Amino acid sequence: MAILDIIQPDNPVLRKKAIRVDASQYQSEKFQQLVDDMLDTLAEAHGVGLAAPQVNQSTRLIIVHLPDESEEDREEYGDDAGKTYIVTNPKITKRSRRMVEGVEGCLSIPGILGEVDRHEMIVVTGQDRHGNDFRIKAKGWLARVFQHEIDHLNGQLFIDLTDKIWQVGEAEEADTADTTQDEPVASTAETPATD
Ligand code: NI
Repeated sequence: MAILDIIQPDNPVLRKKAIRVDASQYQSEKFQQLVDDMLDTLAEAHGVGLAAPQVNQSTRLIIVHLPDESEEDREEYGDDAGKTYIVTNPKITKRSRRMVEGVEGCLSIPGILGEVDRHEMIVVTGQDRHGNDFRIKAKGWLARVFQHEIDHLNGQLFIDLTDKIWQVGEAEEADTADTTQDEPVASTAETPATD
């Protein structure tokens, strides 16, 4: 088990177009280790998705995992809760015309949230960690996370897609009177903006 460092936007790898996973790589111990380490890193960070460029690897590999830790998770994510998707060379082959707004953050940009428009439904094709064909029709939050992670492979960050950006804590100020010690907000509120 290894936890990898998550890089921030001052590292140019995060802004590069990542390189395709070649068929020969699936057999390599190095590639399989990267997948395992990314799974560990995502779990440790309590994130919903991670793309290889975020751990300084310019490789077209993403992991998506919507949590299944509470009743709220299961309400929010339904059948998608608790599933882990490991996808190489992901490509969006279909997109709904309908867009939905939602709040996103990114492990590479701690302390910042933003409201981003995403396609409500997409179809993603690619390969799994062994090179077998992968295809999924994703809706709602799952579709959002796939779009966010695939953007990472093209050097794009969610802050490029919206001007509605705020620091964690700012928007919650109005609510703090009636919420006691919301841990995630309290612990990240001091995180400085990264630009
Ligand atoms: Ni991200």
